[in-house]
Amino acid sequence: MAGRWKNDLNWSDVTPKSAYLTRRQIMAGAGAAAIGGIAGPALAKLGAVPSAYSTDAEPNSWEDITSYNNFYEFGTGKDDPAKYADKLTTDPWTVTIDGLVDAPGDYSFDDIMAGLTLEERIYRFRCVEAWSMVIPWVGFELKDLLDRVGVQPDAKYVAFETLVRPDEMPGQRFGVLDWPYREGLRLDEAMHPLTIMATGLYDEPMPNQNGAPIRLVVPWKYGFKSIKSIVRISLTAEEPPTSWNMSNAREYGFYSNVNPNVDHPRWSQATERKVGGGLFARRIPTLMFNGYEAEVASLYDGMDLAEFY
Ligand code: MTE
Repeated sequence: MAGRWKNDLNWSDVTPKSAYLTRRQIMAGAGAAAIGGIAGPALAKLGAVPSAYSTDAEPNSWEDITSYNNFYEFGTGKDDPAKYADKLTTDPWTVTIDGLVDAPGDYSFDDIMAGLTLEERIYRFRCVEAWSMVIPWVGFELKDLLDRVGVQPDAKYVAFETLVRPDEMPGQRFGVLDWPYREGLRLDEAMHPLTIMATGLYDEPMPNQNGAPIRLVVPWKYGFKSIKSIVRISLTAEEPPTSWNMSNAREYGFYSNVNPNVDHPRWSQATERKVGGGLFARRIPTLMFNGYEAEVASLYDGMDLAEFY
């Protein structure tokens, strides 16, 4: 266990390949574990390989990551997603990929996953509300998927949408946001190797409250850019509308890169509270681009980061 968080060993290393289960078996198993009250993952299941992009910061516990969530489709309370998200049907799951691509279509989750090697990416995660976690995601680079469907030369942005299903997502009966939840990236941001589609965490399939079965993770941007439970990916020529920007453009920009020097109109972004540290834990300084400055700063050369916040 001592080496667990180093880049050379992860959950997959302790399980032989033959022991991996089918996705349906995994989902059934995960359900059983939840009913049995098991606090954390008991078995390695997805077999993700370690990545050089992982931080060696200590990950939050399974409990922290799956019980303190923002997923407004299930309510606005931090504990609403964990309470209600088990109702969401995630199998079968289809992602429509359309717009300026060579091979538009409706892709099943299994089509998307076919032939991919899953990586474990232990990333810092910083919410715009000024709390943070370290999360051992499992996923693959969005670039791999975009390359497979063929991005056309006129495409400049990628737009994402979450599922709309008020029967299973009680928060969608309220107009807190204009559903579906929408997000977007500039194409070069989407193609950056740090940008992943995550399908699990702690080498387990993605818990529903964290955005099962497939979500975006962009670690240098505020957490709201990392849209959950994606059903549509569209390549566009124009900057797409995004939910929080539509809801309050003054407070939430399209870029939303983590930046300790640009405060939210209602609070400072200079420091953050790492979830799980207890009531009296000291706040920690927020890092430029959430600590990924060396990797991503060049994407914004020549841009005023206060204007394009
Ligand atoms: N995606 C959807 N569809 N709906 C949401 O409400 N909340 C965002 C983001 N993605 C949200 C979403 C916000 S504000 C944050 S901080 C992260 O998800 C939280 O991710 P986590 O619960 O896995 O930590």
